[in-house]
Amino acid sequence: MASVTRAVFGELPSGGGTVEKFQLQSDLLRVDIISWGCTITALEVKDRQGRASDVVLGFAELEGYLQKQPYFGAVIGRVANRIAKGTFKVDGKEYHLAINKEPNSLHGGVRGFDKVLWTPWVLSNGVQFSRVSPDGEEGYPGELKVWVTYTLDGGELVVNYRAQASQATPVNLTNHSYFNLAGQGSPNIYGHEVTIEADTYLPVDETLIPIGEVAPVQGTAFDLRKPVELGKHLQDFQLNGFDHNFCLKGSKEKHFCARVHHAASGRVLEVYTTQPGVQFYTGNFLDGTLKGKNGAVYPKHSGFCLETQNWPDAVNQFCFQHGIIWRTHRILL
Ligand code: BGC
Repeated sequence: MASVTRAVFGELPSGGGTVEKFQLQSDLLRVDIISWGCTITALEVKDRQGRASDVVLGFAELEGYLQKQPYFGAVIGRVANRIAKGTFKVDGKEYHLAINKEPNSLHGGVRGFDKVLWTPWVLSNGVQFSRVSPDGEEGYPGELKVWVTYTLDGGELVVNYRAQASQATPVNLTNHSYFNLAGQGSPNIYGHEVTIEADTYLPVDETLIPIGEVAPVQGTAFDLRKPVELGKHLQDFQLNGFDHNFCLKGSKEKHFCARVHHAASGRVLEVYTTQPGVQFYTGNFLDGTLKGKNGAVYPKHSGFCLETQNWPDAVNQFCFQHGIIWRTHRILL
């Protein structure tokens, strides 16, 4: 069983409302979630000696989350990841989104789901947040009602997403927590062993849009089907880091996605999902300029994200919507 407590986290400027913090606690985990962006602000877990550390990057105060920052812990929507040139067609009509990561639209636009206040509802073992995204918000068609539910059961934190649209619109929701199992504020994630259950991945162009090919991981740096130690692996393959969608093997039922083991602390993160993809991002754009919790600075590769989601730019890539080329490769659209 988990307990849930509720407190004020901060006030939004110009009478924008009160941001609350919900603390979910079980015998194994403590997680703090705020109503601004449904953001996970802390996740505390013990190491093998029983010493607790917070393993997600973030800020101690609301101001941190209101500044320009890379989506620490937030829910991303309407569409996580990139939409090429911020343009897509639904039912023959063309829509244009703000280009907030040249030359594409990233993570829902200028004011995505991470930058709004949600309405909370306390549950016996968690918290549910809801909001209505109005028709035309950030350029997307139709009204969208959204519910995000966090529940805690022992060592398992479940994030459940539900959305109801008034007309056809792309939706791709995820959580953007950055983990460092050595404890947030540790300088890098190189000692983490990573496994991702994917036979294929999506190669991208220089703007990080998938080129339409579903490539086998076999014999490449993207073969993470057996655990690899991240630091050594990046060095061996001369990689700047990962920022790629891995195509998961599982069905629409909840299936195993990834495992990250930090041998020094004994902490393990396992990810399960109902989604067909996971964006593995190794904090390549972190640059040490943000002031994090407990005086932490977050340099490049000091946290990783495993963003379970639909494949990036699926709204523009017909085959990605239908899974037609899941097991093939070298098909250029
Ligand atoms: C993307 C990165 C992006 C980051 C934002 C990730 O989900 O894949 O390319 O820079 O979010 O901080």
